Amino acid sequence: MKFSIAVIAGDGIGPEVIAPALEILDAIGDKYGHIFNYVELEAGGLAIDHSGEPLPKETLETAKQCDALLLGAVGGPKWDTLPGHLRPERALLGLRAGLGVFANLRPAALLAQLKSACPVKDEVLIASNSEGKASFDLLIVRELTGGLYFGKRGRIDEPSNGHSPGAAFDTETYSWAEIERVLRAGYEAAAVRRKKLCVVDKANVLESSRFWREVAAVVSKDYRDIETSYLYVDNAAMQLIRAPGQFDVIVTSNLFGDILSDEASVLTGSIGMLASASLGAPVQGGIRPGMYEPIHGSAPDIAGKDIANPLATILSAAMMLRYSFGLEKEAAAIETAVNNVLDQGLRTGDIASRSATSSEKIVGTKAMGEAVLKAIL
Ligand code: IPM
Ligand code: MG
Repeated sequence: MKFSIAVIAGDGIGPEVIAPALEILDAIGDKYGHIFNYVELEAGGLAIDHSGEPLPKETLETAKQCDALLLGAVGGPKWDTLPGHLRPERALLGLRAGLGVFANLRPAALLAQLKSACPVKDEVLIASNSEGKASFDLLIVRELTGGLYFGKRGRIDEPSNGHSPGAAFDTETYSWAEIERVLRAGYEAAAVRRKKLCVVDKANVLESSRFWREVAAVVSKDYRDIETSYLYVDNAAMQLIRAPGQFDVIVTSNLFGDILSDEASVLTGSIGMLASASLGAPVQGGIRPGMYEPIHGSAPDIAGKDIANPLATILSAAMMLRYSFGLEKEAAAIETAVNNVLDQGLRTGDIASRSATSSEKIVGTKAMGEAVLKAIL
């Protein structure tokens, strides 16, 4: 089959981590008889430098016409002082909203090979793992196109302490439809996992969270074989460290999902391992719109040094094959290759164990990408 993929390499380490991912996709294409056509687009800092805006219209329009979007990272100190609506991060929000990718899947699992990079003690991990393993495997489904990120915001002129504007506000609004569709994405994911779904909110304080629970109470009736539970976000943040093994799928709002997914990433050893898929509504018999990106960001401090971990981007490409293109075998081939390379002891600096006696080999971005490529051929 033939697919067109919009590619936004972006800023910082973006281009370095995208390059190996594209080589790997090509190898998969050759091996399984698919053609991936890449349409390179600009967004973020680079786009600001070239056209004065973080998300040029043409980028969004072209991305919409492609079958999926693979993104490296955007942002950096150079653009940090620009006003909010001109910051590189606006490109991400504009792409998410523009492509309608409301369900952000962020899997966080502890791979056996990276156990020593997990900051939580074995006995703590074991206590919450139903199979008694020092491990966990959870999926955060973050609502991505609503809530506080997209609500009404502004400044209030009335002075405070002699300063004007004297106040600022952001608001959280969620419609029934917005909550229902992301919950359904969560239930679909839970159905092919361990059949547990936890709604994370702040229903003891926030009206919007109480509404989430009302919607969940209704939607959950369609998924009676899946166990639904509820947690307040402060407790969830604690439980993620104390007993990560208790979680299967977590469904939560845009802001809470942003925060909890960074926390979960640390448990996996490194944010450099975390891939993500942002999905739109399923299309009957067609290609589901999707945006795929590592969750780590542009890491300007290590850009251009060939030390960034490309695995999150490579694993994001695997998610694209699975969720947008329905190429399960091909996605699994990438994941197996990553697993093999870790078995061989290859590590980028971020996932290296700190033990002096380890037999691991520290490699750079390119060498890691090449090793995964070799494992696929
Ligand atoms: C993420 C990032 C973004 C977010 C930023 C860069 C706007 O932190 O994808 O998690 O907050 O969504
Ligand atoms: Mg984040």
